[in-house]
Amino acid sequence: MEAGILPLELWRMILAYLPLPDLGRCSLVCRAWYELILSLDRTRWRQLYLGYTECRHPNWPNQPDVEPESWREAFKQHYLASKMWTKNAAILETSVCFSLFRRRRTRRTLSVGPGHEFHSLGSALAMSSLFDRILLFPGLHEEQGEIILKVPVEIVGHGKLGEVALLASIDQQCSTTRLCNLVFMPAWFSPFMFKTTSGHVQFDNCNFENGHIQVHGPGTCQVKFCTFKNTHVFLHNVPLCVLENCEFVGSENNSVTVEGHPSSENNWAYTHLLGLIRSSPGVLPTEDSDSLMSLDLESRDQAWSPRTCGIVIEGSQSPTSPAAGSPKAGSQEAEVGSDGERVARTPDSSDGGLSPSGEDEDEDQLTYRLSYQVQGPRPVLGGSFLGPPLPGASIQLPSCLVLNSLHQELQKDREAMALASSVQGCLIRKCLFRDGKGGVFVCSYGRAKMEGNIFRNLTYAVRCIHNSKIIMLRNHIHHCRASGIFLRLEGGGLIAGNNIYDNAEAGVDIRKKSNPLILCNQIHHGLRSGIVVLGNGKGIIRNNQIFSNKEAGIYILYHGNPVVSRNHIFKGSAAGIAVNENGRGLITENVIRENQWGGVDIRRGGVPILRSNLICFGYSDGVVVGDEGKGLLEGNTIYANKGCGVWMMSSSLPHVTSNHVSYNGLYGVAVFSQKDGSGESPGGHGAQENFGEDGDATLWETELEKDDDLLRRPITAALVESNTVNHNGASGLYVQSSEVLHVITNVIHANGDRGITVAQSSQLTRVANNSISCNHQSGVKVEAQCKVEFRGNGIYDNRGHGIITKGDSTVIENDIIGNRGSGLQLLPTSDTKVIKNRIHSFRAYGIAVQGRAKALLQENTVFQGKTNKTIFQQISNNQECIMQNNKFLVFKKKSDTWRLANPPARPHLENSLRGPSAAHSGQKVTAMATRITAHVEGGYHSKRSIFCTIL
Ligand SMILES: *[C@@H]1O[C@H](CO)[C@@H](O)[C@H](O)[C@H]1NC(C)=O
Ligand SMILES: *[C@@H]1O[C@H](CO)[C@@H](O)[C@H](O)[C@H]1NC(C)=O
Ligand SMILES: *[C@@H]1O[C@H](CO)[C@@H](O)[C@H](O)[C@H]1NC(C)=O
Ligand SMILES: *[C@@H]1O[C@H](CO)[C@@H](O)[C@H](O)[C@H]1NC(C)=O
Repeated sequence: MEAGILPLELWRMILAYLPLPDLGRCSLVCRAWYELILSLDRTRWRQLYLGYTECRHPNWPNQPDVEPESWREAFKQHYLASKMWTKNAAILETSVCFSLFRRRRTRRTLSVGPGHEFHSLGSALAMSSLFDRILLFPGLHEEQGEIILKVPVEIVGHGKLGEVALLASIDQQCSTTRLCNLVFMPAWFSPFMFKTTSGHVQFDNCNFENGHIQVHGPGTCQVKFCTFKNTHVFLHNVPLCVLENCEFVGSENNSVTVEGHPSSENNWAYTHLLGLIRSSPGVLPTEDSDSLMSLDLESRDQAWSPRTCGIVIEGSQSPTSPAAGSPKAGSQEAEVGSDGERVARTPDSSDGGLSPSGEDEDEDQLTYRLSYQVQGPRPVLGGSFLGPPLPGASIQLPSCLVLNSLHQELQKDREAMALASSVQGCLIRKCLFRDGKGGVFVCSYGRAKMEGNIFRNLTYAVRCIHNSKIIMLRNHIHHCRASGIFLRLEGGGLIAGNNIYDNAEAGVDIRKKSNPLILCNQIHHGLRSGIVVLGNGKGIIRNNQIFSNKEAGIYILYHGNPVVSRNHIFKGSAAGIAVNENGRGLITENVIRENQWGGVDIRRGGVPILRSNLICFGYSDGVVVGDEGKGLLEGNTIYANKGCGVWMMSSSLPHVTSNHVSYNGLYGVAVFSQKDGSGESPGGHGAQENFGEDGDATLWETELEKDDDLLRRPITAALVESNTVNHNGASGLYVQSSEVLHVITNVIHANGDRGITVAQSSQLTRVANNSISCNHQSGVKVEAQCKVEFRGNGIYDNRGHGIITKGDSTVIENDIIGNRGSGLQLLPTSDTKVIKNRIHSFRAYGIAVQGRAKALLQENTVFQGKTNKTIFQQISNNQECIMQNNKFLVFKKKSDTWRLANPPARPHLENSLRGPSAAHSGQKVTAMATRITAHVEGGYHSKRSIFCTIL
């Protein structure tokens, strides 16, 4: 026969009438015919498959509307299901050395039902021999006593599914059994419908109702296309069981329990099942089939459509206009506050700066050029976060923060890959668990693997306790009334590529030394947290998308101590990550954005290490360290949050180092010591979870772990060091604290209000080696009764005064240069020691002493500004003001040059800067290269005899 004689379409029509054996013969004719037969997939093969009344749709129960990839393949599987049993029976026969004559014996079919050979299953079984097939005809078959299967038989319902019902309690004691096409219910005397302790049982296309099924290792089972209505499958020590395409509905307890070590004693069926699993297409992701993760939520997110932000590098501005990079107020500011902090602009000066361009030409003769290089923010994350956030613009994430697909993660992580491809215990694939109490319960060293299942509308989906391991790949878990996945008592395994959403409690709940690997999941729209880790729970939580949850995206408490890295946590209604009640955790390289409360919220003994995260676009503060929260914040980028960048309480000694805190709405870093301090974010914690299930919360406190963290440097005071704090809406640093605070080697630049505001500081606040520049009001303001020490700072180009103080300050060895107001403005209540500073104000006084301010001014060098204003004293005979050994530099000659030399301009960061985190070690604060080059008349001139002269 030639395929070419007739058009293919006609051949297809003709062949569509052939029965199966003829199709087989045809396909053997030649390659063309073979392909012709294959091309009948949607027609003849589909028809053949659906012709079997006991066949459920190949994608039942989860995707019954989706055409299978191949009907022929589905048909083959179905065909083999009934053949496999006999085929393996043959293997079994030889393996157990049955005599030859019995193996040759043909299988008999025994019919049971009214008008048939046997009237009951029991009587048929009594007459059956090895591998016979027992056909149950439609009707109700009720057995009055327990049935013990001693010889391998196949029990098949004859008719449509649902027409044959069997009420029985069967104990399989033979090596193998197959049940097919039955509605199975327990007998009146026992809830057990079926149990086996050593044999292999195959269930195909059955409905089980209201009973129990038990398989004990080394027994095995294979279940396909079955419905379990309030039926409990109990698997104990099974080496391998496979449940595929099944539906579990209305359970009053767990649907499947997998208990105990998988038995190492493997029967013949173990190898058979393993072969089946290996040959069938798994759900392990490949690059192109990585569908769940490629569901790209980011790209749908308008605010984050791909775009690169422009980069503004503050340090590279025109040297003659130091303030050019700072955002300019559109209109002229007439800004003399109560304390005269803001300095009125000269009307003709566009930026009020020190550029001669805005000054009168006459004055230009007197003036001099100042060449500044003010320390701007260091580049961070590839430069994406230097510019202001633009409405509608997106942020280009640096590659280290882009999410990997599951495929990529598994390629990178051999351990995860090994877990993902292992099979042990129970394999549950493509099943539906719905509308009941529990899904899968794995306990006492049990092992279960779940792939491509749907769990919905249950109390919980999966519980894994007591040294058990689960491997969960690409399941959908939603609308659970409690948490989706629950691990406790050293539970573990791999939870990867799942879609977990709309659950009433946490998506994943990790407790009591459980330590799972959680990769590439989407955990979202939970009514509470995305993931909770508590009671010494651990876990590696990596590369997940956790979003739109009602409570914290990740909530760590009661000594929970996970490693949380490279997750995207966004659009939560509470905190991104909350660490409470002695929670710990290593939290690195996450992108935490657009959460309603703090991006990271640390309270009540929470001690996480927070490193190299991007925390941005939050609706509240970036990081909150509240109420006895502790922790190390290192190398994070905290950007464009509506509230403060970092809001913290000094009492608990937080350590904030090498962070980039920019473009936040309020303070860059705010330090408080009172709980009711202004700016307390509205209860930004993760909110109370319901942890009642496992007893009193205090229970968790008992198991303390002594894993002292070498990553932390012990500190004795709250420490804010080596951060870049720039372009925040209010002050760069705001202090309202009654504890010691150290503020060291920070760059505080171009903030919307002051550089540093000390509103309350009853203990000492030490401000050392910082660069404080280009802030929109004064560099520093100290309120009455605050104790502050300034040492080694460079305070440059602020639009108000350099330092304005009403409090008790020591100002030693600072460079206070180029500020629009006075270098130092000492207000009446202040008590200030000003020693060995270099001070210059272009237009105002170097030092202005207002009222009866108490001051010791000693050994300072004051450079003359535009006029001869150097030191101003409001009250000429102020006994409280002592001035001695100050130097005044006046310009005389055009050719004279001033430099900040010996020592060079402050701060001297190169030496004092500690190597920051490994991740950010490349980004050192470079020394300030501030130079004053003055072309002036005059030279070095000492006026040491002048005391508090009004100039
Ligand atoms: C539910 O199942 C578990 C484990 O299989 C068992 O310990 C418990 O007693 C069952 N609960 C009920 C109410 O049947
Ligand atoms: C969930 O189950 C409950 C009872 O089991 C039922 O009333 C409810 O309609 C179900 N919800 C969904 C979404 O199926
Ligand atoms: C500044 O003071 C010097 C002497 O101390 C004087 O010669 C000079 O004229 C003064 N300049 C101005 C602008 O007042
Ligand atoms: C400030 O810098 C100087 C010079 O590098 C250094 O000696 C000093 O210890 C630093 N101070 C602090 C508090 O780090």
